[in-house]
Amino acid sequence: MTKGDAGNFPGGGGSEVRGTPSSRDESGVSEPGVRLAHEAALRLVSEGNREIARLQSELKLAAAALVTSQEMERKRMASELHDSIGQALNALSFGIQLSSDQLRKGRIAELGATLDSLNSQVRDAIEEVRGIALDLRPAMLDDLGVIGTLSWFFRQVRALHPRLDLRVEIEADEREVPDALRTPIYRVVQEAISNVVKHSGATEITVTLHTSPKQVELGIKDNGRGFTAPRDVSALGGAQASCGLAGMSNRVEFSGGTFSLASKRDKGTSIKAIWPLGPDERDTNGD
Ligand SMILES: Nc1ncnc2c1ncn2[C@@H]1O[C@H](COP(=O)(O)OP(=O)(O)OP(=O)(O)O)[C@@H](O)[C@H]1O
Ligand SMILES: [Mg+2]
Repeated sequence: MTKGDAGNFPGGGGSEVRGTPSSRDESGVSEPGVRLAHEAALRLVSEGNREIARLQSELKLAAAALVTSQEMERKRMASELHDSIGQALNALSFGIQLSSDQLRKGRIAELGATLDSLNSQVRDAIEEVRGIALDLRPAMLDDLGVIGTLSWFFRQVRALHPRLDLRVEIEADEREVPDALRTPIYRVVQEAISNVVKHSGATEITVTLHTSPKQVELGIKDNGRGFTAPRDVSALGGAQASCGLAGMSNRVEFSGGTFSLASKRDKGTSIKAIWPLGPDERDTNGD
């Protein structure tokens, strides 16, 4: 309601509408007064309808964006299942066939070696499944929070890549990280480090996480070979096979943050994600 409307309502204190006593209802409101109030109410309803229509169209756009990101996630998961578990099962099937042949031919020593190898492949497959399950929903995020989970993840990275100098600067308070940001933060770190390992040839990587009541800021920087970064990272993916960069960017933006990437040939790559925190986000943590 605009300031001007207020005067048109009964008792609104606006211009007085004159009328004969017969034109007033029981509450003493004149007919023109009722008409004005009615018109003002109609205006409000139509403004409200316009606002609802606007919000509905925004919601549709957000839902479409979400579906796209879910599709990308599914594609990614499908190819991960295909490449890891699918391949592992193929290898196991081949190994079982081989051991059956060896058994039939009485080659017991060879059979022993094949079974040992099968056993270790099964253990690898179990690890793969664990990894995929962790990728789907890192339950640890709920138990340890994002800082604890990241520490765990960094230990894994250091164990797997002893020659990579992983530097971590965390100046963060878990209570300042809204629940809804835990998964995006973890995913971005995961994908960014995976990219550094796969593509950059870097010897050094620095991960920073800073929180304050006003914002959460995440950075991942490497000293690798760099690349010509696309202008619009979020437009990647889709038909293209790789969707890591687009996935990171979309994740950050859908959770209310801004994503930026800077890369230069031979000067390394730097990724930054910043989530401004409003009073609503700050309230999402019950602890
Ligand atoms: N830190 C980096 N250093 C050098 N090149 C990079 C880095 N990160 C990304 N790239 C380049 O950007 C490309 C796109 O990365 P993106 O993560 O989208 O896909 P991908 O890693 O190839 O595949 P996916 O993430 O889907 O498994 C990479 O193929 C690589 O050429
Ligand atoms: Mg990638």
